[in-house]
Amino acid sequence: MHAKSPSLIPNQRSLFDIPDHIAYLNCAYMSPLLKSAAAAGGEAIASKMQPWGTTSEDFFTQSEATRSLFAKVIGADADAISFVPAASYGIAIAANNIPIGEGQEILVLAEQFPSNVYAWQRAADEQGAHIRTVASPAETPNGPDWTPAIMDAITERTDIVALPHCHWTDGAHINLTTVSKKTRKVGAALVLDVSQSLGAMPLDLNQIKPDFMVAPTYKWLLGPYAMGFLYVAPKWRDGRPLEENWLNRKGSEDFAGLVDYEDSYQPGARRYDMGERANFQLMPVTKAALQQIADWGVDNIAATLQTKTDAIAARATRLGLTVSASELRAPHFLGVRFPGGVPDGLLEQLAKQHVYVSLRGTSMRVTPHLYNSAEDVDRLFAALQAVL
Ligand SMILES: Cc1ncc(COP(=O)(O)O)c(C=O)c1O
Repeated sequence: MHAKSPSLIPNQRSLFDIPDHIAYLNCAYMSPLLKSAAAAGGEAIASKMQPWGTTSEDFFTQSEATRSLFAKVIGADADAISFVPAASYGIAIAANNIPIGEGQEILVLAEQFPSNVYAWQRAADEQGAHIRTVASPAETPNGPDWTPAIMDAITERTDIVALPHCHWTDGAHINLTTVSKKTRKVGAALVLDVSQSLGAMPLDLNQIKPDFMVAPTYKWLLGPYAMGFLYVAPKWRDGRPLEENWLNRKGSEDFAGLVDYEDSYQPGARRYDMGERANFQLMPVTKAALQQIADWGVDNIAATLQTKTDAIAARATRLGLTVSASELRAPHFLGVRFPGGVPDGLLEQLAKQHVYVSLRGTSMRVTPHLYNSAEDVDRLFAALQAVL
């Protein structure tokens, strides 16, 4: 059976609270909340004014429903998912549980986001292993191509491959299906920080089979800050959590019985849940955002955002700016480079025109979502032309 081909989603700005004169093209920095998610959050905050309405079941029902919904969005079982407050927390769980041989290597990319680097540096120091950093690949006429460079760097000495799905500075795409085959061949673990892609870029778990995979919700999952999810492959579900909290112990539903300490955990990846994962205020916000993503469909989101980044890329090229070809970048994420150097005060000048993008290194990140209109793109180019 063939997968259904994706459909393009019409503009969804009315679901957000973004004034007409704002061109917000910076989802890679922080997504705006949906009105539905903000409304759920308002109710959740208000409920804390009357805590007598919060029952012991509420400690479990909302979070389990959210866990299941996230699992559905990524095509996994709820047992595979734990709640984390940040990408760094999920990477720390992976780093504390995957053994590394002395003299072996942990692979990362040049300029990879620090949340997927620092824990590995510590693990390497403590276990006598080394960090191997894949250098930025030479620019091809189509842009940098990381996948062959990563493939060359994976050897029998590699124990862990710690990667994103696209580079956070410029959206350069990493073919994780290809990389994961080699990772499995050499017996290395694959740990993914998909903070800059999950929710906007399809990821085939059955093909890629990561060992651990983490994403906070505040970017492409359209959720709040300080909430995130960790996917854990079956072989790691009996590992050591980062902290010991009562909620993820077996039988914690029975509050009266909590004085009888319990050694075993709740099933699956729940053992890794952060403390206070019931998170009454942020959980409904997260759930509403995930529901909207599930309703749109990640394939459809990606296809729609690709049309937006393609259109922006074509206009940028006409202005003499440099972008990667479609096949070497993620569908939702455009890195624009300035052959004459980044203009002074670029971000400030654009912000004066109510155009919001970000700069990482020499790459201007233009990262639209379904709320962006053709007028936003016109505004971006009018403002750019004025500074070039
Ligand atoms: C690739 C990537 N990973 C992780 C994060 C956020 O990390 P954390 O949740 O640890 O603050 C960011 C934020 O910009 C990012 O770009």
